[in-house]
Amino acid sequence: MSKKTITKSRYSISKMFDSIAKHYDIVNRVQTFGLDTLWRQKLVHFFPQDRPIRLLDLATGTADSLLQLLRLPQAHQVTDALGVDIAEKMLQIGQKKVDKSLFSSKITLQSGDATQLDIENESFDVITMMFGIRNVDNVESALDEMYRVLTPKGRTIILEISIPNQFLIKTAYLTYFRYILPNIAGLISGQKTAYDYLNQSSEQFINPRTLCDKLRKSGFKNVKAIPIQLGMLTIYVGDKH
Ligand SMILES: C[S@@+](CC[C@H](N)C(=O)[O-])C[C@H]1O[C@@H](n2cnc3c(N)ncnc32)[C@H](O)[C@@H]1O
Repeated sequence: MSKKTITKSRYSISKMFDSIAKHYDIVNRVQTFGLDTLWRQKLVHFFPQDRPIRLLDLATGTADSLLQLLRLPQAHQVTDALGVDIAEKMLQIGQKKVDKSLFSSKITLQSGDATQLDIENESFDVITMMFGIRNVDNVESALDEMYRVLTPKGRTIILEISIPNQFLIKTAYLTYFRYILPNIAGLISGQKTAYDYLNQSSEQFINPRTLCDKLRKSGFKNVKAIPIQLGMLTIYVGDKH
Protein backbone atom coordinates (compact mmCIF):
# COMPACT_ATOMS: atom_id res chain seq x y z
CA MET A 1 0.00 0.00 0.00
CA SER A 2 1.37 3.44 -0.80
CA LYS A 3 2.04 5.57 2.25
CA LYS A 4 0.03 8.67 1.39
CA THR A 5 -0.22 11.42 3.99
CA ILE A 6 -3.67 11.55 5.49
CA THR A 7 -5.52 14.73 6.22
CA LYS A 8 -7.96 14.97 9.13
CA SER A 9 -10.91 17.30 9.38
CA ARG A 10 -13.48 16.95 12.12
CA TYR A 11 -16.19 16.55 9.50
CA SER A 12 -14.44 13.81 7.52
CA ILE A 13 -13.43 11.98 10.71
CA SER A 14 -16.96 11.98 12.14
CA LYS A 15 -18.43 10.86 8.79
CA MET A 16 -15.86 8.09 8.55
CA PHE A 17 -16.63 6.78 12.05
CA ASP A 18 -20.36 7.06 11.40
CA SER A 19 -19.85 4.89 8.29
CA ILE A 20 -18.26 2.08 10.34
CA ALA A 21 -20.33 2.52 13.53
CA LYS A 22 -22.60 -0.48 12.93
CA HIS A 23 -19.74 -2.98 12.72
CA TYR A 24 -17.22 -1.10 14.89
CA ASP A 25 -17.38 -3.36 17.97
CA ILE A 26 -17.35 -6.66 16.13
CA VAL A 27 -14.47 -5.61 13.87
CA ASN A 28 -12.45 -4.63 16.95
CA ARG A 29 -13.09 -8.00 18.57
CA VAL A 30 -12.14 -9.96 15.45
CA GLN A 31 -9.08 -7.99 14.40
CA THR A 32 -7.55 -7.95 17.89
CA PHE A 33 -8.54 -11.57 18.66
CA GLY A 34 -10.63 -10.23 21.54
CA LEU A 35 -7.62 -8.61 23.21
CA ASP A 36 -8.92 -5.03 22.88
CA THR A 37 -11.10 -5.56 25.95
CA LEU A 38 -8.06 -6.52 28.06
CA TRP A 39 -6.06 -3.56 26.75
CA ARG A 40 -8.80 -1.08 27.62
CA GLN A 41 -9.23 -2.60 31.06
CA LYS A 42 -5.54 -2.00 31.86
CA LEU A 43 -6.31 1.69 32.27
CA VAL A 44 -8.16 1.06 35.50
CA HIS A 45 -4.84 0.22 37.20
CA PHE A 46 -3.96 3.91 36.96
CA PHE A 47 -7.18 5.13 38.59
CA PRO A 48 -6.62 6.76 42.00
CA GLN A 49 -8.06 4.35 44.58
CA ASP A 50 -8.37 6.74 47.53
CA ARG A 51 -11.29 8.96 46.48
CA PRO A 52 -14.50 9.12 44.47
CA ILE A 53 -13.94 9.69 40.77
CA ARG A 54 -15.85 11.70 38.21
CA LEU A 55 -14.72 10.16 34.93
CA LEU A 56 -14.60 11.76 31.47
CA ASP A 57 -14.01 9.44 28.51
CA LEU A 58 -13.02 11.36 25.40
CA ALA A 59 -13.62 9.93 21.91
CA THR A 60 -15.84 7.43 23.64
CA GLY A 61 -17.19 5.97 20.39
CA THR A 62 -19.72 3.21 21.03
CA ALA A 63 -19.08 3.42 24.79
CA ASP A 64 -17.24 0.08 24.73
CA SER A 65 -14.35 1.61 26.62
CA LEU A 66 -16.53 3.09 29.36
CA LEU A 67 -18.59 -0.04 29.82
CA GLN A 68 -15.53 -2.28 29.93
CA LEU A 69 -13.89 -0.07 32.57
CA LEU A 70 -16.93 0.29 34.79
CA ARG A 71 -17.45 -3.48 34.95
CA LEU A 72 -14.18 -3.84 36.86
CA PRO A 73 -14.12 -3.89 40.68
CA GLN A 74 -11.24 -1.36 40.69
CA ALA A 75 -13.62 1.14 39.07
CA HIS A 76 -16.08 0.96 41.96
CA GLN A 77 -15.20 4.48 43.10
CA VAL A 78 -16.41 6.02 39.81
CA THR A 79 -19.49 7.96 40.84
CA ASP A 80 -20.45 9.11 37.38
CA ALA A 81 -19.02 9.07 33.87
CA LEU A 82 -19.42 11.25 30.80
CA GLY A 83 -18.53 9.96 27.34
CA VAL A 84 -17.94 12.53 24.58
CA ASP A 85 -17.57 11.91 20.84
CA ILE A 86 -18.04 13.78 17.55
CA ALA A 87 -19.62 10.85 15.64
CA GLU A 88 -23.38 10.77 16.20
CA LYS A 89 -23.93 7.20 14.97
CA MET A 90 -21.18 5.86 17.22
CA LEU A 91 -22.91 7.59 20.15
CA GLN A 92 -26.36 6.27 19.17
CA ILE A 93 -25.06 2.69 19.26
CA GLY A 94 -23.29 3.46 22.53
CA GLN A 95 -26.47 4.87 24.07
CA LYS A 96 -28.39 1.64 23.32
CA LYS A 97 -25.65 -0.38 25.02
CA VAL A 98 -25.57 1.94 28.02
CA ASP A 99 -29.38 1.77 28.38
CA LYS A 100 -29.22 -2.03 28.48
CA SER A 101 -26.30 -2.09 30.93
CA LEU A 102 -26.09 -2.01 34.72
CA PHE A 103 -24.49 1.42 34.48
CA SER A 104 -27.23 3.43 32.81
CA SER A 105 -27.62 5.66 35.87
CA LYS A 106 -23.86 6.39 36.01
CA ILE A 107 -23.09 7.04 32.32
CA THR A 108 -24.07 10.01 30.18
CA LEU A 109 -23.08 10.23 26.52
CA GLN A 110 -22.79 13.58 24.82
CA SER A 111 -21.88 14.87 21.40
CA GLY A 112 -18.77 17.03 21.57
CA ASP A 113 -15.30 17.80 20.31
CA ALA A 114 -12.31 16.81 22.43
CA THR A 115 -10.38 19.84 21.17
CA GLN A 116 -13.09 22.28 22.29
CA LEU A 117 -14.96 20.83 25.23
CA ASP A 118 -18.21 22.35 26.38
CA ILE A 119 -17.27 21.52 29.98
CA GLU A 120 -16.40 23.76 32.91
CA ASN A 121 -12.87 24.03 34.30
CA GLU A 122 -11.85 21.47 36.94
CA SER A 123 -14.90 19.22 36.57
CA PHE A 124 -13.41 15.71 36.27
CA ASP A 125 -10.99 13.65 38.39
CA VAL A 126 -9.90 11.21 35.70
CA ILE A 127 -9.92 11.53 31.92
CA THR A 128 -9.50 8.51 29.68
CA MET A 129 -9.03 8.49 25.93
CA MET A 130 -8.68 5.18 24.16
CA PHE A 131 -7.67 4.98 20.49
CA GLY A 132 -8.89 8.55 20.12
CA ILE A 133 -5.92 10.92 20.38
CA ARG A 134 -4.49 9.90 16.99
CA ASN A 135 -7.80 10.79 15.36
CA VAL A 136 -8.21 14.36 16.60
CA ASP A 137 -7.27 17.11 14.20
CA ASN A 138 -5.32 19.04 16.85
CA VAL A 139 -3.54 16.96 19.48
CA GLU A 140 -2.23 19.98 21.42
CA SER A 141 -5.73 21.48 21.81
CA ALA A 142 -7.10 18.14 23.04
CA LEU A 143 -4.33 17.89 25.68
CA ASP A 144 -4.86 21.52 26.74
CA GLU A 145 -8.58 20.84 27.13
CA MET A 146 -7.89 17.74 29.23
CA TYR A 147 -5.69 19.79 31.51
CA ARG A 148 -8.29 22.54 31.80
CA VAL A 149 -11.23 20.32 32.78
CA LEU A 150 -9.29 18.14 35.26
CA THR A 151 -9.59 18.84 38.98
CA PRO A 152 -6.31 19.87 40.67
CA LYS A 153 -5.53 16.27 41.73
CA GLY A 154 -6.76 14.95 38.39
CA ARG A 155 -5.11 12.44 36.06
CA THR A 156 -5.24 11.81 32.31
CA ILE A 157 -4.81 8.27 31.00
CA ILE A 158 -4.46 7.75 27.26
CA LEU A 159 -4.26 4.45 25.37
CA GLU A 160 -3.01 4.57 21.80
CA ILE A 161 -1.51 2.36 19.14
CA SER A 162 2.27 2.67 18.74
CA ILE A 163 4.87 1.11 16.49
CA PRO A 164 7.15 -1.50 18.13
CA ASN A 165 10.90 -0.76 18.03
CA GLN A 166 12.16 -4.32 17.71
CA PHE A 167 12.77 -5.04 14.00
CA LEU A 168 11.10 -8.45 13.65
CA ILE A 169 8.08 -7.50 15.74
CA LYS A 170 7.76 -4.22 13.85
CA THR A 171 7.89 -6.01 10.47
CA ALA A 172 5.27 -8.59 11.47
CA TYR A 173 3.09 -5.88 13.00
CA LEU A 174 3.24 -3.60 9.95
CA THR A 175 2.52 -6.50 7.62
CA TYR A 176 -0.59 -7.39 9.62
CA PHE A 177 -1.58 -3.75 9.88
CA ARG A 178 -1.09 -2.81 6.23
CA TYR A 179 -2.16 -5.91 4.35
CA ILE A 180 -4.23 -8.23 6.53
CA LEU A 181 -6.21 -6.13 8.95
CA PRO A 182 -7.87 -3.73 6.44
CA ASN A 183 -9.02 -6.71 4.38
CA ILE A 184 -10.55 -8.52 7.37
CA ALA A 185 -12.20 -5.30 8.56
CA GLY A 186 -13.33 -4.48 5.01
CA LEU A 187 -14.92 -7.92 4.62
CA ILE A 188 -16.92 -7.57 7.85
CA SER A 189 -17.90 -3.92 7.50
CA GLY A 190 -17.85 -3.32 3.75
CA GLN A 191 -15.78 -0.19 4.51
CA LYS A 192 -12.19 -1.10 3.60
CA THR A 193 -11.25 2.52 2.81
CA ALA A 194 -12.12 3.60 6.35
CA TYR A 195 -9.91 0.87 7.79
CA ASP A 196 -7.07 1.79 5.39
CA TYR A 197 -7.32 5.27 6.93
CA LEU A 198 -7.32 3.91 10.47
CA ASN A 199 -4.18 1.92 9.82
CA GLN A 200 -2.39 4.78 8.09
CA SER A 201 -3.32 7.11 10.95
CA SER A 202 -1.63 4.69 13.38
CA GLU A 203 1.57 4.55 11.34
CA GLN A 204 1.71 8.30 10.92
CA PHE A 205 0.90 9.21 14.51
CA ILE A 206 3.59 10.89 16.61
CA ASN A 207 5.85 8.57 18.63
CA PRO A 208 5.50 8.09 22.42
CA ARG A 209 8.37 10.45 23.24
CA THR A 210 6.75 13.27 21.26
CA LEU A 211 3.34 12.66 22.82
CA CYS A 212 4.95 12.80 26.29
CA ASP A 213 6.59 16.11 25.37
CA LYS A 214 3.21 17.47 24.28
CA LEU A 215 1.60 16.33 27.54
CA ARG A 216 4.31 18.17 29.49
CA LYS A 217 3.86 21.25 27.32
CA SER A 218 0.15 21.26 28.19
CA GLY A 219 1.15 21.34 31.86
CA PHE A 220 1.00 17.66 32.88
CA LYS A 221 3.41 16.38 35.53
CA ASN A 222 4.75 12.87 36.26
CA VAL A 223 4.24 12.01 32.59
CA LYS A 224 4.85 8.35 31.77
CA ALA A 225 4.60 6.25 28.61
CA ILE A 226 4.11 2.57 29.39
CA PRO A 227 4.52 0.22 26.41
CA ILE A 228 2.24 -2.82 26.41
CA GLN A 229 1.84 -5.76 24.05
CA LEU A 230 5.50 -5.60 22.88
CA GLY A 231 5.17 -1.87 22.20
CA MET A 232 2.20 -2.24 19.86
CA LEU A 233 0.28 -0.03 22.27
CA THR A 234 1.26 2.61 24.77
CA ILE A 235 -0.51 3.85 27.88
CA TYR A 236 0.25 7.48 28.73
CA VAL A 237 -0.33 8.86 32.21
CA GLY A 238 -0.10 12.50 33.27
CA ASP A 239 -1.09 14.28 36.49
CA LYS A 240 -2.36 17.82 36.74
CA HIS A 241 -0.22 18.57 39.78
C1 LIG B 1 -11.00 4.37 17.11
S1 LIG B 1 -12.43 5.13 17.84
C2 LIG B 1 -12.23 4.77 19.56
C3 LIG B 1 -13.54 4.67 20.30
C4 LIG B 1 -13.46 4.16 21.75
N1 LIG B 1 -12.67 5.02 22.59
C5 LIG B 1 -12.93 2.76 21.81
O1 LIG B 1 -11.91 2.52 22.48
O2 LIG B 1 -13.53 1.87 21.20
C6 LIG B 1 -12.00 6.83 17.75
C7 LIG B 1 -13.13 7.75 18.12
O3 LIG B 1 -12.61 9.09 18.16
C8 LIG B 1 -13.67 9.96 17.84
N2 LIG B 1 -13.12 11.30 17.57
C9 LIG B 1 -12.27 11.68 16.60
N3 LIG B 1 -11.99 12.99 16.70
C10 LIG B 1 -12.67 13.45 17.79
C11 LIG B 1 -12.77 14.72 18.42
N4 LIG B 1 -12.14 15.78 17.94
N5 LIG B 1 -13.56 14.82 19.50
C12 LIG B 1 -14.23 13.74 20.00
N6 LIG B 1 -14.17 12.52 19.44
C13 LIG B 1 -13.40 12.38 18.35
C14 LIG B 1 -14.30 9.27 16.64
O4 LIG B 1 -15.57 9.76 16.32
C15 LIG B 1 -14.29 7.81 17.12
O5 LIG B 1 -15.49 7.46 17.75
